[in-house]
Amino acid sequence: MTKQETIPMNDLKRLYQRYQIEIEREVASTLQSGWWLNGAVGKRFAANFSKFIGASECILVANGTDALEFALAAVTRGGSRGREVILAANAGGYASCASWHNDLVPHYVDIEPASQLVDRRSVLKAANADTAAIVVTHLYGGVVDVRALRTELADAGLPHIPIVEDCAQAHGARVGGDVAGSLGDISTFSFYPTKNLGAMGDGGAVLTSNASAAAYVRQLQQYGWSSKYHVGVPNGRNSRMDEVQAAILDILLGDVDNRNGQRRTILNRYKSASGRRLQFLEGGGGSVAHLAVALCDDRDAFRTFMKERGVDTDIHYPVLDCDQVGWAAMPMKGMENLAVSRASVSRLCSVPCYPDMTEDEIEHVCQVLRAWEAV
Ligand SMILES: Cc1ncc(COP(=O)(O)O)c(C=O)c1O
Repeated sequence: MTKQETIPMNDLKRLYQRYQIEIEREVASTLQSGWWLNGAVGKRFAANFSKFIGASECILVANGTDALEFALAAVTRGGSRGREVILAANAGGYASCASWHNDLVPHYVDIEPASQLVDRRSVLKAANADTAAIVVTHLYGGVVDVRALRTELADAGLPHIPIVEDCAQAHGARVGGDVAGSLGDISTFSFYPTKNLGAMGDGGAVLTSNASAAAYVRQLQQYGWSSKYHVGVPNGRNSRMDEVQAAILDILLGDVDNRNGQRRTILNRYKSASGRRLQFLEGGGGSVAHLAVALCDDRDAFRTFMKERGVDTDIHYPVLDCDQVGWAAMPMKGMENLAVSRASVSRLCSVPCYPDMTEDEIEHVCQVLRAWEAV
């Protein structure tokens, strides 16, 4: 493989080409219908997606950050339990953003080194009477055992703390026999184009089996309306998914398990090609390998080594939420308890892992990984 043919972190043109005939048919039919928002296509996708996840209600919104913001609003309504939200500091900042938009205070907790997922023991240590909610992010497609966390919270006398699952990187991931997104009190999804289930634009969803929380989110995402032009709750705004995106997502939903399997296969091949100088994360058996993320001591040298051999790399994520310059003045807690998060942040590196990679590309990445191990 020559330098000109660098393997990119993703190539969404290939996704389009693979489903082009179906997508163009469904998009054309949606446009021809003259009904582009709040219509039958969105309803159909919402019904299919809630069935796929195993929650009775699905509210389609404009993106995954709005979904987190509405979910947190729904589970902290009334605010009688205090204003702290427990979350990891390594998950890209989205849950921190959503917390501050709800006047909630992020209380950061540490992660497990091998998976980089939130450490349940740290969550339990931080949980107290001021905890308004816990956000569990199924990061990189790996899965947190939410059922176990729920039991541990109950044993600690805190069974009432709501759990929000952020599944933006984990469509179709499984925890034991359960699907991620069906285990918390409420869950959120992003359909950003590169996600395991991605739109051709922005999109998001909130899922829950709690009818009252769902009704509240439905109001918040449409101006706070209880019915057309009648405002039932404050703090609403406009956050909708359009019918064209729902049509595309409904097509891709049919293939998401298959594509997740392809991602897993690629990641397993990378694992087999490495292990000494570079360790890929262990996201659990039900992981959907959203990203192939590894820990590497010589990260800069590794990235140069890959680049020179025609493989792009990236860093997810280079800065912990609590260390973001623009958030220095925001209220937050727990920054002194993040030893694993801090030790990991300069060692993280992602390599290309998406279902439309060719066999040649996958094999080339494996060869370069083996060459790195041999240095
Ligand atoms: C873990 C996580 N949560 C939330 C989001 C926010 O989603 P969006 O970009 O659709 O707002 C993302 C996506 O980028 C994400 O990766």
